[in-house]
Amino acid sequence: MKHITDDLAFAAARVPIAAAIAAAKLAGRGDEKAADQAAVDAMRTALNSMHMKGRIVIGEGERDEAPMLYIGEEVGNGQGPELDIALDPLEGTTLTAKAMANACAVIAFAPRGGLLHAPDTYMDKLAIGPGYEEGVVDLDAPADENARRLAKAKGVKVEDLGVCVLDRPRHGDIIAALRKAGCRVHLITDGDVAGVINCTKAETGIDMYVGQGGAPEGVLAAAALKCVGGQFQGRLVFRNDDERARAERTGVTDFKRRYFLNELVKDDAMFLATGVTHGSLLDGVRVENGIAHTHTLILNAATRTVSEVRVKQPV
Ligand code: FBP
Repeated sequence: MKHITDDLAFAAARVPIAAAIAAAKLAGRGDEKAADQAAVDAMRTALNSMHMKGRIVIGEGERDEAPMLYIGEEVGNGQGPELDIALDPLEGTTLTAKAMANACAVIAFAPRGGLLHAPDTYMDKLAIGPGYEEGVVDLDAPADENARRLAKAKGVKVEDLGVCVLDRPRHGDIIAALRKAGCRVHLITDGDVAGVINCTKAETGIDMYVGQGGAPEGVLAAAALKCVGGQFQGRLVFRNDDERARAERTGVTDFKRRYFLNELVKDDAMFLATGVTHGSLLDGVRVENGIAHTHTLILNAATRTVSEVRVKQPV
């Protein structure tokens, strides 16, 4: 029997909604830690009320460094489907602290064993939306070459292509090469889960995402693409031996491996995100007369269902 049903997906919506409402209360207060903690607390409480045997495979960190939502923590009421969970209660802690656009609460569920147990390291990422032949872009090719290949496959000039990149000094060469090739480069200050998902939405003008960001966020973004289509390739990046040791503890043996979408997210999955601050993907939490208005994206790979839910609830 399939575990990932639409009933389960809708029941799970209250998990990112709770985290988003809690974090949004701290938007613009300049305190990243407090906002993150509020989202973690709320997400954990909501997760524990779900009917499932949940196990966190991507969470707030390893057991000795995260008191809650740590990797390996069991959540849910201990009955029902056995699910693996990847989560980021607050994707965009700085965005929230500064009340900037695009912060959201994010979570993905899959049947046991369905998600790569990514360590908390960086990942080189390359993503495009649906509708292209497999392999049209290649993580090992230069970004500008991928842009040219994608433009050809799309039947447009490279000047008409939008590429999203995290605005970091480490991406200087990639950004320069893309601009030299003629692409429009959409720089984001944070939040590459939304950056990747934007490749699947024509209205964003973004066709490709490229660059290095968090590996956990890579698996979360891959879970979203698994549901709506698109291609994703990623490779873990290690800066030191401690990060290699972390990877070994999560079962990684080949440090140079390139992961494709179906290796990051093996089978069915569902992905949910609720906006904290207003963004390109989701509206943020708005509180009026004691009522929180929320906007949640619910994607289900098993049923290929894309739902957007607006929930109003007292706070
Ligand atoms: P946090 O919400 O944990 O701060 O992560 C935000 C984020 O921008 C991710 O979306 C991205 O993958 C990562 O940080 C990039 O890391 P860095 O800021 O070190 O470049």
